[in-house]
Amino acid sequence: MDDHRPLRTFGRIKARTLKPRQAGLMESLLPHLALPEEGEIDPTELSPAVGPLVLEIGFGGGEHMVAQAGAAPGTRFIGVEPFINGVASCLRHIEEANVQNMRLHNGDARDVVARLPDGSADLAYVLFPDPWPKARHHKRRLIQAEFLDELARVMKPGAELRFATDWANYAAWTLEQLTRHPRFSWMAENAADWRSAWPGHVQTRYETKKLGDCAPIWLRFVRA
Ligand SMILES: C[S@@+](CC[C@H](N)C(=O)[O-])C[C@H]1O[C@@H](n2cnc3c(N)ncnc32)[C@H](O)[C@@H]1O
Repeated sequence: MDDHRPLRTFGRIKARTLKPRQAGLMESLLPHLALPEEGEIDPTELSPAVGPLVLEIGFGGGEHMVAQAGAAPGTRFIGVEPFINGVASCLRHIEEANVQNMRLHNGDARDVVARLPDGSADLAYVLFPDPWPKARHHKRRLIQAEFLDELARVMKPGAELRFATDWANYAAWTLEQLTRHPRFSWMAENAADWRSAWPGHVQTRYETKKLGDCAPIWLRFVRA
């Protein structure tokens, strides 16, 4: 997809200088784990694992994704994060946990999703995306109709999209966008379903900071 709005960063724009160990991992480990820079991505060629394919979009420091990958060694993970310090932190977690079933892209998730084949993903996480709380900035939010069309294309029928935010307006925005989308249905049956995280959730770094205006809201959608 080359027609989306340019990526705007909500948090820090300039990267902090990488610590020597992280800079070393960017040179030594990232080339082995990075997705090809262009062309269609063939998930079957990505890692020794052959199980389900999980996407994590905007993984921040990667602690959630690495914990999930460590707990499910047969599952393949693709993580995407434009912030270079996040990628460097994730590499450190990958090395420490010695996980083998993960590939990374340092860039925009919309570019990666556009290069994935139809019906290839079993699960997608969008955890605490940049909130862009001001109304005039809502168009910068990741959750937009065009992106959902692409996500629906790459997700298998029955695949799950898991979204969390601690900004009430972003939760309402996402519910509105997803419930009007013909390919997604909200899975909630009662209030407890959106007030508590799904089983097996691992806290993210952003989640622990409690920077939003409400308690986390957990939204699960199934792709029809
Ligand atoms: C508020 S942080 C949350 C990070 C992490 N999920 C967590 O919960 O700790 C949002 C992240 O989304 C990333 N992000 C923003 N736009 C993105 C895009 N188009 N594709 C992938 N990641 C994006 C940002 O760089 C940032 O790291």
